Amino acid sequence: MDTGRSGQMDIGRSRYELTAVKPEQYPAGDLPEIALVGRSNVGKSSLINSLLNRKGLARVSSEPGKTRGINFYNVDDILYFVDLPGYGYAKVSKEEKASWAKMIETYLHTRRQLKLVIMLVDIRHSPTEDDKLMYRWILDRGIAHMVVATKADKIARGRIQGRLSEIRKTLGIKADASLTAYSSETGQGREQLWSELEKAVLEQTVNEQI
Ligand code: GTP
Ligand code: MG
Repeated sequence: MDTGRSGQMDIGRSRYELTAVKPEQYPAGDLPEIALVGRSNVGKSSLINSLLNRKGLARVSSEPGKTRGINFYNVDDILYFVDLPGYGYAKVSKEEKASWAKMIETYLHTRRQLKLVIMLVDIRHSPTEDDKLMYRWILDRGIAHMVVATKADKIARGRIQGRLSEIRKTLGIKADASLTAYSSETGQGREQLWSELEKAVLEQTVNEQI
């Protein structure tokens, strides 16, 4: 939100909390978590910075493979954004790939506080086999999710709807499921995404407490 506040949440009060490589290291407590998944270099860390209006909070790099462990960002002691390592990065060793995959899978599979997964794809490209596998996996496990097609500033406005349709078809995203065009560079899509996040996570959390 432009005011820096999102509902009752003050996003100005966001901070990096910790990096975990195994469940014992995840934060204690019961705050709801929104996790980001997607290929390496797709823009997961940038999306966190953009949503929180904080340029340097999550580390961003033009080199793929920047985010290695699982990074937890505490937003106003109300929720966490969870930045997962990217998949599909060709240059890391087989062992390292397997260990990242295991880390991602363990988190998604076991984390009770996980309320929502944001899966990122690059709006310019057709989703890869890895993307399809990840999306299927999320669907099969019934994890609440939304898809964000990012780097929308890199294509002409007139092409956005066409790209969204192709991505929806390739991944098999149902007509009523959320797919948002986004740009961490310009903030395009930010208000829409925040309002969907609030609906998906905060209301759910409030309902659970009633
Ligand atoms: P890993 O940590 O390696 O998995 O990557 P990541 O998904 O966290 O990507 P990151 O946010 O580090 O961004 C990768 C590169 O894409 C950086 O050079 C970013 O500046 C750039 N980038 C990310 N989002 C956008 C966007 O919306 N528009 C543009 N033009 N560039 C972007
Ligand atoms: Mg990253």
